[in-house]
Amino acid sequence: NVKACIFDLDGVIVDTAKYHYLAWKRLANELGFDFTEKDNERLKGVSRMESLEILLEIGQVEVDEKTKVELAEKKNGWYREYITKMDESEILPGAKEFIETLKENNFKVAIGSSSKNTMTILESINMVDYFDAIIDGNKITKAKPEPEVFLLGAEALGINPKECVVFEDAKAGIEAAKRAGMFAIGVGSPEILKDADKIIPSMKNLTLDILDF
Ligand code: G6P
Ligand code: MG
Repeated sequence: NVKACIFDLDGVIVDTAKYHYLAWKRLANELGFDFTEKDNERLKGVSRMESLEILLEIGQVEVDEKTKVELAEKKNGWYREYITKMDESEILPGAKEFIETLKENNFKVAIGSSSKNTMTILESINMVDYFDAIIDGNKITKAKPEPEVFLLGAEALGINPKECVVFEDAKAGIEAAKRAGMFAIGVGSPEILKDADKIIPSMKNLTLDILDF
């Protein structure tokens, strides 16, 4: 029996995945190599510093620790220029409506994101008050695919992980949900999200039947 839904933020509630991609691509280009959308899939759901490590590996660039911190800050600066300009119009189709349906039917609703920019984004799109719990990159020690973010979400909601459903657009996020003992619904392409219990193309026109397992 499902009692709660935990939503990833980037790429599920709001289309910030494209801004992460643009900012990482700009960094890669500045470092002298190309960075494709396919490369970018590996960064989804992964923490900022781990994403940088993957990016540097792709470009075969070696830098010291201090430079890594500077590069990550640079990328975050560009990324924040995008997200602080966002508004409600960038909420992905169906996301807000489905969350409203969940609340009307007494399901608990949480955010489980690796992003340290979660609150900025939720404020930009005016959705802070929609969630019973918000677990973000500032509250976790291990990013997805570790299950910590979702387990903390279940704990904050007071719900057993077995009664939680996670909505995710990233491969690392599906793995995290499964390792947390939760149901996982992949939002996006079946090739990338094949380990999910169910896969939907978007949050558009979702009804509560999606929670029947
Ligand atoms: C999300 C995104 C990742 C991003 C991570 C950290 O999980 O899917 O692409 O790297 O958050 O985001 P941050 O905003 O803290 O740099
Ligand atoms: Mg995501």
